Amino acid sequence: MAQAEPADWITLRATAKEVARRAYAPWSKLHVGAAGLTDQHTVVSGCNVENASFGLSLCAECGLVSALRAQGGERIIALSVVTEDGLPLAPCGRCRQVLLEHGGPELPIDQGANADPITLGELLPGAFDASELARRQP
Ligand code: THU
Repeated sequence: MAQAEPADWITLRATAKEVARRAYAPWSKLHVGAAGLTDQHTVVSGCNVENASFGLSLCAECGLVSALRAQGGERIIALSVVTEDGLPLAPCGRCRQVLLEHGGPELPIDQGANADPITLGELLPGAFDASELARRQP
């Protein structure tokens, strides 16, 4: 599996910050952008889109995963999630679970320029995944 290079992280951070400016977040005012490197070395991104119902709001990472599939990508191999100020944002629990299926526990997630990336497996230990379904198949 290809790995992200230092230059990739710079691109991902810049893309996530740019995309955060396009978020629709009139209710929380938290503008979030996510950018991911695909296994084909393309960049996919997403921003949060809120709703007056609150509960129907879409996180930036969900938009990113949808964009990944829409452009024919399969795997995310590096991820940056930031707010408009460019600072890393911890993916919410639901997004960790969604990302797991498309990046795996080894997916490195940016912690900013002065820290090592953290893996998705570290953020979501003991996760429910496809193996839980497979072992119950008749
Ligand atoms: N948000 C994301 O886009 N991603 C996360 O991982 C955490 C939260 C958004 C959802 C909502 O629009 C706003 O941030 C405040 O929760």
